[in-house]
Amino acid sequence: MAQTLTSQYIPAVVVWENSRLKLLDQTLLPAEERIIDIPDVHTLEDAILRLAVRGAPAIGCAAAFGVVLCAHETVGDISDPGWKANFDARCHHLAETRPTAVNLRWAVERCQKVAHAALANKKSRADLAALLEQEALNILDEDRRMCDQIGKHGAALFEGKREITLMTHCNAGALATGGSGTALSVMYAAQAAGIRVKAFADETRPLLQGARLTAWELARAGVDVTVICDNMAASVMRAHKPDACIVGADRIAANGDTANKIGTYGLAILAKHHGIPFYVAAPYSTFDLTLPNGAGIPIEERKRAEVAEPYGKLCVPPNAKVFNPAFDVTPAELITAIITDRGVLKPPYSKALGL
Ligand code: MRU
Repeated sequence: MAQTLTSQYIPAVVVWENSRLKLLDQTLLPAEERIIDIPDVHTLEDAILRLAVRGAPAIGCAAAFGVVLCAHETVGDISDPGWKANFDARCHHLAETRPTAVNLRWAVERCQKVAHAALANKKSRADLAALLEQEALNILDEDRRMCDQIGKHGAALFEGKREITLMTHCNAGALATGGSGTALSVMYAAQAAGIRVKAFADETRPLLQGARLTAWELARAGVDVTVICDNMAASVMRAHKPDACIVGADRIAANGDTANKIGTYGLAILAKHHGIPFYVAAPYSTFDLTLPNGAGIPIEERKRAEVAEPYGKLCVPPNAKVFNPAFDVTPAELITAIITDRGVLKPPYSKALGL
């Protein structure tokens, strides 16, 4: 397996070993580093739902191997038309586990196409399995390479600087992808280019991906990281004047409107107020060009307990309501540029995308 910007510091989150899927259980970090076996699609769906694997590209990579499992679990003769319908239903169920991250649907549909072509060409069950496995490995490998490309293009924005301070939200790092990350890949590439990087990581309520995951991986890679509570971002911007904010994305519409972890929109408004560039970093698989703007992006709502009883401690009285959307949409006009694996897109984004 090729080296990436982070492979010497951070374990791979999605592993396919001897035709078995394994995941790094991110719910346990930073206290414990545990690899879990994913023997079947049900266990994978549960892992996606409880965020054992999370981050749009990593979910897509894991789901690609999930399609291999879907084919394995679909009983019967593969030449029977009922087999295809049953297989597709399983894939559809998997693709629906988290609605906002478009990479999930994208990866599942890409693997389904391979299966459909194999069925049309009357391949054997063993050939179908081998083709699906290869497609999932391709997706993982492409993601790995795309991450390093994003890092390279992003780091070029800071060329000539000796030191930069960057603010980020949630975790858009190696833990969220098959490779070195998206937003954090920019930090890793800048550091590799000899720039001293200081990072402020928003803790990211309610599930603390910034505090638990971003801080864990940046510290392991030797990046100077400071965790702040989400409500400290405005004062930190005024006091420390970061060079930029860089965040990831779960889905980007054709006009550049971007869905990312709840709180990203607020951070973009704060960045504009303080005159700080606000960058989104994402691979092309995160663009959903079927949507003209962010209004059509489905926003996942998660369980009350994540807000009301964090880590098992009751913090909200039972008679108070809780609202827990997992993502928000940042309007394109607040985004300075989108750093992709193919280069840096500047507004207007539909034109930059050739639409
Ligand atoms: O709910 P999560 O942890 O899956 O949310 C993750 C994010 O919002 C990330 O910023 C996004 O998926 C980009 S990951 C490269």
